[in-house]
Amino acid sequence: MLNFKSIIAQAISKLVEMNVEEIESYIEIPPSKEMGDYAFPCFKLAKVLRKAPPAIAIELKNNIEVSDMYISKIQIDGGYLNFFVNEEFLVKNVLSQIEQKKENYGSSDMGKDKTVLIDYSSPNIAKPFHIGHLRNTIIGASLYKIYKFLGYNTIGINHLGDYGTQFGKLIEGYKRWGTEYDISSAPIEELTNIYIRINEACKEDEEVLEACRRNFKKLEDGDEYCTELWNWFKEESLKEFQRIYDLLDVKFDSFKGESFYIDKMDIIEEILDKKKITEQSEGAKVINLEDKGLGICIIRKSDGSTIYATRDLAAIKYRADTYNFDKCLYVVAYEQALHFKQVFEIAKYLGIPEKCVNGLEHVQYGMTRLSTGKMSTREGNAIKVNDLLNEAISRITKIIEEKNPDMEEKEENAKKIGLGAVVFNNLCNTIIKDQIFDWDNVLSFQGDTGPYIQYVYVRTKSVLEKVGNIPEYNNIDTSLLTDEASMKVIGTLYKFGDVLNDVVLKNEPSFLARFLLELSQNYTNFYNENKIIVDDEKLKDARIYLTYAVQIVIKTGAKLLGIDMPSKM
Ligand code: ARG
Repeated sequence: MLNFKSIIAQAISKLVEMNVEEIESYIEIPPSKEMGDYAFPCFKLAKVLRKAPPAIAIELKNNIEVSDMYISKIQIDGGYLNFFVNEEFLVKNVLSQIEQKKENYGSSDMGKDKTVLIDYSSPNIAKPFHIGHLRNTIIGASLYKIYKFLGYNTIGINHLGDYGTQFGKLIEGYKRWGTEYDISSAPIEELTNIYIRINEACKEDEEVLEACRRNFKKLEDGDEYCTELWNWFKEESLKEFQRIYDLLDVKFDSFKGESFYIDKMDIIEEILDKKKITEQSEGAKVINLEDKGLGICIIRKSDGSTIYATRDLAAIKYRADTYNFDKCLYVVAYEQALHFKQVFEIAKYLGIPEKCVNGLEHVQYGMTRLSTGKMSTREGNAIKVNDLLNEAISRITKIIEEKNPDMEEKEENAKKIGLGAVVFNNLCNTIIKDQIFDWDNVLSFQGDTGPYIQYVYVRTKSVLEKVGNIPEYNNIDTSLLTDEASMKVIGTLYKFGDVLNDVVLKNEPSFLARFLLELSQNYTNFYNENKIIVDDEKLKDARIYLTYAVQIVIKTGAKLLGIDMPSKM
């Protein structure tokens, strides 16, 4: 793929003693078009060449050899060397790539022979799927799609929270009051109510807590009644989760949750004991990580039960043994930062390949707060995600009813717009930032929203429908697309592959969301500046072709975020 930065870096590297990658990393995008498309800050070479930056700039300019097919002009600006790309070449290159690759434009084999596991969504059974899990699911699903697009062998894992002492409590509550609740009509809600009630009872009465502990022990020992109940909790929860996954079209390759690791924890303990890093503390087995500033990590509690961290350690070993992964990403809220730091530190002692240890990464995201009314912060976690998604769809349906009641495929489009709006809202800002969920912002057809991108897509679609057929690429006169507005669109299209690479380097899908906004804005600007359907056939064809290219890239990019395009808006 065409890469101007590396072309420039290679030319500079022939003149100085510095490797191409390092030079490339210094190349900047100047703040304004008059200063060129790329700039090299010569002070980066001042030490190596023992000269002042302006003198270096002159020397480089006089000696550099770079084909004018790529670079049309090189200019000195103080200590900077500014490069102007050959615009016509750029236009040709971008459009011919899109012509050849269509919806695969931007894909690559960057991830060839590399395996990346993405642990995402991972809700807890018998508990509500809350708005944090929604954000998690959306981020994970989009990373999953992007890694795949870049050629990685990608495995999506739903590490269900289906084990732990809380199930001893739930079983006790069910035993006591099961018949008082209408569990079959709203299982998760009712089980949550039972769970809250039994927790209260435990606080008041140590005896109750003891009974809960006994239940969990029974569950661990395979008691029939307890196991049956637990299986049923799991089934009902999965049904509810699946409704959300279906709506969002989210898929997993594995549903191996915490309970899968029950029989894989003893060996972890043995390994860690042998490494002599475990110690006893008040009857519990712990690993002291104080010297690394990571506190104490419990491996087995004094009552003999294992915890979340032990199961994660077992999962790391299992995943390394099974997949020999290059990366294993954990899409989990930033609140669990310490947990993952501890677990990743201890993973160094599990005897798994070093590349696996180095590939462990916590992809942290921030909290979602609901703005006002019934969805206040406190109740935020209680709001049902299913209801939220359906509300997005029904609000959009209402807007369509008002604005465009005769729209074709109304239902299908409302669904795509409503869900697209929620998905985009979860991805358009740096994921670690906390965010406020506000219906008006999320659903607006203008601004940094999903519907805005869909709106621009629908505009490209209606332009293309108006003209009927797409002109042949070979007949396009690319020199007609070098005006400023067209070049801005081309420049953005050119960046697509790089943006996707950056997404996986930083595990930051918001880069792609921002890219789509930029492309949509630049196309809107192009559309306002340039009349498309003009008498001059050549000019008309060139502009239509550019519209066609934009349409393909918006659709591909949005799909990678998990957003479908409506047919009308
Ligand atoms: N079930 C956990 C929660 O809801 C998240 C699990 C994340 N994955 C992991 N391997 N620990 O908070």
